Amino acid sequence: MSANSPLALLDRDRVRELFDLRGAYLVQTGGDYRGDPYPVWHRLRDEAEVHPGVVHELTGYDRPAVFAGLPIPERPHFSAFSFAACDAAYRNPEVFASSPTPVDPNDGDLRTQNSMISMGGAQHRRYRSLVQPSFMPANAGWWIEHWIEDTVQHLIDGFADQGRAELNVDFCAAIPVLTITSSFGVPVSQALEIRAALRQPQVLIDLLRPIVADRRRTPRDDLISVLVEAELPDEDGTAQRLTDAEIYSFALLLLTAGSGTTWKQMGITLTALLQRPEVLDAVREDRSLLRPAIDETLRWLPTDPMFARYVMRDIDFHGVHLPAGAVLHLCIGSANRDPARWENPDEYDITRRSRPSFAFGSGAHACLGMHVARAEMTTGIAALLDRLPNLRLDPDAEPPAFIGMYERGATEIHVRFG
Ligand code: HEM
Repeated sequence: MSANSPLALLDRDRVRELFDLRGAYLVQTGGDYRGDPYPVWHRLRDEAEVHPGVVHELTGYDRPAVFAGLPIPERPHFSAFSFAACDAAYRNPEVFASSPTPVDPNDGDLRTQNSMISMGGAQHRRYRSLVQPSFMPANAGWWIEHWIEDTVQHLIDGFADQGRAELNVDFCAAIPVLTITSSFGVPVSQALEIRAALRQPQVLIDLLRPIVADRRRTPRDDLISVLVEAELPDEDGTAQRLTDAEIYSFALLLLTAGSGTTWKQMGITLTALLQRPEVLDAVREDRSLLRPAIDETLRWLPTDPMFARYVMRDIDFHGVHLPAGAVLHLCIGSANRDPARWENPDEYDITRRSRPSFAFGSGAHACLGMHVARAEMTTGIAALLDRLPNLRLDPDAEPPAFIGMYERGATEIHVRFG
């Protein structure tokens, strides 16, 4: 990378530390799980659509794990494994809520649990409609031109003349975190501080406070300016602007929901393609196949295979009685390979008839950033194919493997080219 590239300021060792699936940062979500969960999930789905228990224990991972809805020992836990059961839960947010208690983004405590992803009903619709325009497909170009394309090209400049590279951490991990932090107006030198601060929200507030204040005075063409200018109709119809606390909480949600996910999903996609050179060749020849290749990876191996919902009243559900107060874990990894919906579901087949999967969720909370995520993955992989001739797995390096329980991804992806 040239010394005057803005990315020369990115501390590579720190990237490796923060984006190591096996490292301390991700171990609490089951980063040390090495197995293939899919045979177990097929068996569980065949036995019953919904089981008492939590996904990781039912899968045979016996260490404690933290993720959406976990751990909450005082509540009964159930897990849904079929497409139909997950679909039914997504379609019934009154009973299967994203939070068991009302959400107040101004309660003075910065957590994703008081952001949009936990809200329900009218409150969620109001917040979502406020931020949605910036994330619509029509705005994908805004993200690509402002932040994604330059980042991708600078990262490739860093290794293009070396004939070999490690793509998972040195490429895939850096793109989403730099896209989101740059859209906030945070310089590259502070991007990793922000990522590291996900568990110390005060650091995020300290970094964002001057930017929010500046954009309130002088808006620019960036995401924080969109948020400070956005108007939210109150219950009585009066226009309200987002408070600083609401902006911090949305920023934290974007970082949490949008950086690790896209990193790992891009690594999974690259691995799936590099392991199948004939499919990679087909995509290289015909770039219109890149979108189906990405969508098939999202179905076949979604990075986050489980999301939780809180049961708000007693209900008989797909053969099981769920009491009010229970947590229902939707194992979307299993639902995405339900043979009732997809033929030969274990096969990675980019030519299969496209049908929506649950990788981006479904219903009211379906991923707000899905078009940004697709734009990052498409721009990144297309640029690799354009600039690195004969891209292939490095035959002398350990091949990538898929690991992790609740945040699945590839280990290092060592490649050669030229
Ligand atoms: C491949 C990458 C990604 C995957 C697999 C993914 C997956 C998901 C899933 C499954 C949900 C639904 C959660 C639930 O139902 O409880 C979700 C929600 C969300 N995602 Fe993503 N996501 C990705 C990338 C992104 C990006 C890049 C952003 C932002 C730039 C983002 C922002 C959000 C937000 C704000 C929500 C909450 C939406 C709401 O509550 O209405 N995601 N994501």
